[in-house]
Amino acid sequence: MSRTLAVVGGGAIGLAVAWRSAQAGWKVTVHDPAVGSGASWVAGGMLAPLSEGWPGEDALLQVGAASLQRWPDFGSELGALVDEPLFTSHSSLTVALDAADAADLRTVAEWIETQGYRLELLSRAQIRAAEPSLAPSIRLALLASTESAVDNRALVRALRLACEAAGVAFVAESVVDPESLPADQVVVAAGTGAAALWPGLPVRPVKGEILRLHHRPGVAPAPTQTIRGSVHGRPVYLVPRGDGIVVGATQHESGLDTQVTVGGVRDLIADAQTLMPSIGEYELYETAAGLRPMSPDNMPIIGRVSDRVVLAAGHGRNGILLTPLTADAVVAELSGAPLPEAKNCAPDRFGPTGRAH
Ligand code: GLY
Repeated sequence: MSRTLAVVGGGAIGLAVAWRSAQAGWKVTVHDPAVGSGASWVAGGMLAPLSEGWPGEDALLQVGAASLQRWPDFGSELGALVDEPLFTSHSSLTVALDAADAADLRTVAEWIETQGYRLELLSRAQIRAAEPSLAPSIRLALLASTESAVDNRALVRALRLACEAAGVAFVAESVVDPESLPADQVVVAAGTGAAALWPGLPVRPVKGEILRLHHRPGVAPAPTQTIRGSVHGRPVYLVPRGDGIVVGATQHESGLDTQVTVGGVRDLIADAQTLMPSIGEYELYETAAGLRPMSPDNMPIIGRVSDRVVLAAGHGRNGILLTPLTADAVVAELSGAPLPEAKNCAPDRFGPTGRAH
């Protein structure tokens, strides 16, 4: 008889854990009142551990790179299940508008090389040739030729189909106490909700607002790759999405608030337009906000915290990127042989892992 596994949370992480665990022989039930409706639904879907890296953040780079390496196989298995393309771009450009940004790009490029990876600096002329819709004032860019982007909503649909095909059951109810679930093992993968489910877990919500834009006839086409930059000190990114662009994202520590604000939308439009002047001609068809489950050190929290409970929490800005690695790490943990690549993600780095009551 298969052993039973309850997964609390049906976002990208919870669904991937459920799918891979079912494939590994577990009899899995996912508990979530609204599967795929949280941060996974709002995400930008950038897989960018290299160009978002920074000297000193070596552990985050290594765990992100280990997950990026898994994405081509993971994505092609899932992509076969949905009609829409899962990958919406295959590389990323981080751009510099001023001398300070350009110096930062050079710092990242040099550091990445010391870590065993490679990013390429592009001149103004090379940027114009690669992405003519970008502002001519952009003076330097960092090309990451392996950093793709994923359609987060297609991902959620594909994961749900994969789970169903693997025999995963769904219970559309909230869980109050994971330890009360009648399963041999329980995985808590509930995004920002994990903090309430495992009191003492240091995960806090950081709100992010995004815009979803459609291309309109006669307007300059969207960039073919993910574009990231900083405008007035605010990070902004443009992620190609089929016939449009996802623009993100604001960052606010405002508890569980998921309202989209006028100021957030105004800043995103202004900053995106600084990078790509023709964006004002696009259709703005959706605004949304999600809650990133941030950990104190920006590293995910993956591992066993009791005889029956494993956490897959605290993925912060990198939930979509870290989905395949997290699924592998949880399956490995459940089998009693933890994944070496996830060793820096262990919950006990924050002290005793027992539940604080
Ligand atoms: N991963 C993109 C963001 O957090 O805005």
